[in-house]
Amino acid sequence: MSSIIKVVNLSKSFFLKKKLNILKKINIEIKKGELIALLGPSGSGKSTFLHLIALLDQPSNGEIYFEGKKTSQMNDVEKDQVRGKKISIVYQQNNLLSDFTSLENVAIAMISTGKNIKYANNEAKKILRNVGVSKRLDHFPSDLSVGEQQRVAIARAVINEPQLILADEPTGSLDQSTSNEIFNLFLKFKSQNRSIIFATHNRELANRADYKLQIIDGNIRRSDE
Ligand SMILES: Nc1ncnc2c1ncn2[C@@H]1O[C@H](COP(=O)(O)OP(=O)(O)O)[C@@H](O)[C@H]1O
Ligand SMILES: [Mg+2]
Repeated sequence: MSSIIKVVNLSKSFFLKKKLNILKKINIEIKKGELIALLGPSGSGKSTFLHLIALLDQPSNGEIYFEGKKTSQMNDVEKDQVRGKKISIVYQQNNLLSDFTSLENVAIAMISTGKNIKYANNEAKKILRNVGVSKRLDHFPSDLSVGEQQRVAIARAVINEPQLILADEPTGSLDQSTSNEIFNLFLKFKSQNRSIIFATHNRELANRADYKLQIIDGNIRRSDE
């Protein structure tokens, strides 16, 4: 299997009153088609790690390779292309634009890459059908359940067919059955040879991933059981 992300000696520190070493010389490789659970207590650095590999933040040290290419050597245009089309991130909440319908929220992500509106609307409808919210196209986020909002957010995250989907506690505010539905979407993406990393506190879902990455004291440990 080929590599989607590889990090070499990746470190991240924040400086407040004193230096906080959040990630310390992490070395891992993520392959295409892998579905990975990212675990660790609150404040351990899960979001920090996801932001780094989404190229939304700069490492303090070390290198991130995307599809074999050093991201530190990409220019802004290349980075924007990777961020816009190849990597997508979903958060626990506040994902959607409140003044836009489900359909618009999803279609906008595609229109912003230069596709025409009609085409984007059609694609958005297809994806929303895939995530099971085809009957909610004209609803505004406030008129959707939390689970539906999250599915629309995931539809938006995948409309441009990213190779890497990062989800930061995507089921944190969902009940078990809705969480399972989200996980089933991840399985679908995996079957399309995409890679998914989801931060979670849900042990049951984590156990169904291909493997777990656990952040402990700034290090990442892989466990396969
Ligand atoms: N921009 C920042 N400036 C200073 N400290 C930060 C910043 N972002 C995160 N941190 C700190 O880094 C640690 C890890 O945060 P985070 O990655 O959000 O953890 P998690 O997602 O695992 O709960 C926390 O102690 C947090 O306070
Ligand atoms: Mg977090």
